[in-house]
Amino acid sequence: MKASRQKVRVLMVCLGNICRSPTAHGVFLHRIERAGLSEFIEVDSAGTGDWHIGKQPDPRTCRAAQARGYDLTPLRARQVRADDFEKFDYILAMDGENLRNLQALCPPHLKHKVKLFLDFAGDADGVRYVPDPYYGEEDGFQKVLDLVENASGSLLDHIRRQHL
Ligand code: 4NP
Repeated sequence: MKASRQKVRVLMVCLGNICRSPTAHGVFLHRIERAGLSEFIEVDSAGTGDWHIGKQPDPRTCRAAQARGYDLTPLRARQVRADDFEKFDYILAMDGENLRNLQALCPPHLKHKVKLFLDFAGDADGVRYVPDPYYGEEDGFQKVLDLVENASGSLLDHIRRQHL
């Protein structure tokens, strides 16, 4: 690995940036740090919507993540910006609606960067979307963590193979 190479930058995207994408941000950050790859890979998250800008992740999201050893409380919601499409190498949508919204915002020559996060989940049993837990019960937050933990491991393997 060459320390001088450009970092690989990953942006996790959902609707509000208070449930799914902060979970993916915190879990993937933990994987990067555990693998000793902070020098080479960077992760951030954002929402396509603007309702929760500046807010901490949803308390239910923070509690569920904390129980599995991830501290999401330093994160603050922000909205996707035009320059994200230049800056990030992987712009990963949690569901089909986020994907369509991102594709509509993305300049045509950068569209190859926009993908579904679960495209990287090796054995997600055909599940393509991380379901929105916001209006549901506690089990929805556990499901988000299960899907995100699985896909984060596969994404890290993919980046190692392709870039490092
Ligand atoms: P997220 O969940 O997209 O996973 O952050 C949501 C958060 C807030 C809302 C919808 C989804 N909302 O309608 O305010």
